[in-house]
Amino acid sequence: MIDTRLLSGNNNEDIAEAATILAQGGLVAIPTETVYGLAADAFNGEAVEKIFKAKGRPQDNPLIVHIEKMERLKDLWSDVPEKALKLADAFWPGPLTMIMTKTDKVPKEVSCGLNTVGVRFPEHPIARKVIEMADTPLAAPSANLSGKPSPTNFAHVKQDMYGRIDAILEGGDCFVGVESTVVDITGDVARVLRPGAITEEMIADVLGNAFTDSAVEDGLKEGEKPRSPGMKYRHYAPASPVMLFCGAPDDTAAKVMSAPEGSAVICFNEYAYGYDYIPQMSSFSKIAPLGNSWDHAMHAHRIFDALRSCDGAPAIYIQCPRRMGAGAGSVNRLMRAASFNFERCTPYPVIGVTGRSGSGKSYIAMLLGEKLGYPVFDADAVYKRLLEVDVNMTQRILRNFPEADNCGKVDRKALAKIVFADKSAKLFLESITHPCIADEAKKFIAENKGCILDVPLLHESGMGRLCTATLGVTADDDIKLQRIIARDGIDTDGAKARLAAQPSDDFYRESCDITIKNNQEGFEKIEELAEKLIKL
Ligand code: TXA
Ligand code: MG
Repeated sequence: MIDTRLLSGNNNEDIAEAATILAQGGLVAIPTETVYGLAADAFNGEAVEKIFKAKGRPQDNPLIVHIEKMERLKDLWSDVPEKALKLADAFWPGPLTMIMTKTDKVPKEVSCGLNTVGVRFPEHPIARKVIEMADTPLAAPSANLSGKPSPTNFAHVKQDMYGRIDAILEGGDCFVGVESTVVDITGDVARVLRPGAITEEMIADVLGNAFTDSAVEDGLKEGEKPRSPGMKYRHYAPASPVMLFCGAPDDTAAKVMSAPEGSAVICFNEYAYGYDYIPQMSSFSKIAPLGNSWDHAMHAHRIFDALRSCDGAPAIYIQCPRRMGAGAGSVNRLMRAASFNFERCTPYPVIGVTGRSGSGKSYIAMLLGEKLGYPVFDADAVYKRLLEVDVNMTQRILRNFPEADNCGKVDRKALAKIVFADKSAKLFLESITHPCIADEAKKFIAENKGCILDVPLLHESGMGRLCTATLGVTADDDIKLQRIIARDGIDTDGAKARLAAQPSDDFYRESCDITIKNNQEGFEKIEELAEKLIKL
C-alpha cells in the first residue's frame, strides 16, 4: 500500500509537486478533458512499467503519450505526415489520439512491442500545465483498474487508485467523459480504432475520407487479430450483468421499463422524468438518467458515472443511444460493457431528416428515399392535410385561436401570422399539432418496412424519439436565403426573418447523429450516407 498524496489542480504548488513526482519516475493520476489519466514519464521505461502493475493492465496493451506542444512530436514519431498536421490543426488541443510510426526513443514499455505510438495533445489546462512543468511527454492510460469503467471524476479515481499510486491531482469532472478518439494514420486512409468526441465524419471532413475499423462496431471476429490491442479485452464493465437495448428511443424505453424489480436502469431523461413511466420507475433500485435522447455529448459525459453508480445491482438495463455519428463513442463503450450482447428493439430503419428552411433537407430526404426504396413522411404536408380532415385537432386550434377561424375552417395564413409574432402562442399551437402529426408518423412507420421522416421540428416535436437515426442538413446562410426567396416568393427581409426565428446550424450539429452540408443540388455522397443511416 502506497501513501497516495491528494493534490489540488487549483493550486500551482500542488501542480509543481505532481510534476516533480513524475519527473522522478513516480505515478500521478491527472485530469484531462476526456477521462482521468494515470501518468508517468513516457521516456522512463521503469516508471511506465509501474502503470501496468497499478492498473492490473495486460502487458500487450500500449499507452497513449500526452504532449503540450507540437515540438515534442519529433521525439515520438519518426515522421510527421501532412495528415497529422491537418488533424492537429483542426482538433488539437482536444480529444483525438493519432497513431504513427514511433522513434527509437519511445521505450518498449509504452508501445508494447508495436512499431507505432499514439500521441494526444489534451485540452485540459491542468494536464497541459503538468506536462509543461515535468518537461517530458507523459504516457497515460485511463486511471481505472483494468476492465472497469474509466474514471470521469476525482471520486472514481480515488475508488480505484488510492493506495496504488504516488498522487492524485484533483481537477473536477471531465468535460467530455469518454476517452479520446483513436485514429491510425499510418495507412493511406485514416482508420478510426476507437470512436470518441471527434467523429469519423469530422475526420473525413478534414482529410477527405476516413473509415471506422469493423471491430469497433461488431467486436472481433473469431480468430481476428485486433488493430488495436485494447479491442481484445472486456472493458468498461461493471460486475453486474448488463442488458443493452438498441433502436428508436421510444422502443428501447418500453423494453428497459420492463426490467425485473430491483434492477438498475440507465435511460434517457424523457423517460426517467416522464409521467408515463413513474409507476414502473418505483420498482427499480437505481435510475441513472443519461441526458435527453438526442444529446450525444451528454450521454458521453455521463456514461461511465452511470455504469459505476449502478454497479452491484442484480442487473443493469440500458437504453442505448443511437449508434452512428456522434453516438458512436458512447455506444462502443456500452457494447463492450455488455460484451456485444444486445437486443434490437426496432425492426426497420426509421431515418429522421431535419434542418432549417432552405437547407435542402426535403431534397436529401427524397434522395435517401429513392436510394433505399423507402417512402418519405412529409410532416408539413401531413399538417396541412390534418387541418382539412382532423376535426379534433382543428376544433382545439379554433377554440384557442379564434382569430384564425374562417367559417369553421382554420385560416392557415392568419394562424401563421399570429404564432410568428408570439413565441408562446407558437409553442402552444405546437402542443396541439405535434402529437397529432406524431400519431400519423407512428402509423406510417408501422405500415412500412423502413421509412424516412422529413420533419422540420424533429426534436422539438418529440418525433426524434421514433427514429433509429437522425440526419441534420445544413447549408451556408446565403444559399438558404436564395432558396427560400426562390421557393416561397418572399423578399430578402422576409426570408431573413424566417431564418432568424429558427435554431442555428449548431443546434443540428449537437442534436443529430450525423450532419451534412447541402450547398449544391446533386449530393454526391448519398450512397455512403444511406448505408450508414440504415444500420440498426
Ligand atoms: O482520452 C484518452 O485517450 C485517455 C486519457 C487519459 O488521455 N487515455 C486512454 O488510454 O484512454 P487507454 O490506455 O485507456 O486507452 C488507449 C487505447 C487502447 O485501446 C490501446 O489499445 C490503444 O489506445 N492504443 C494505444 N497505442 C496504440 C497503438 N500504437 N496502436 C494501436 N492502438 C493503440
Ligand atoms: Mg482505458
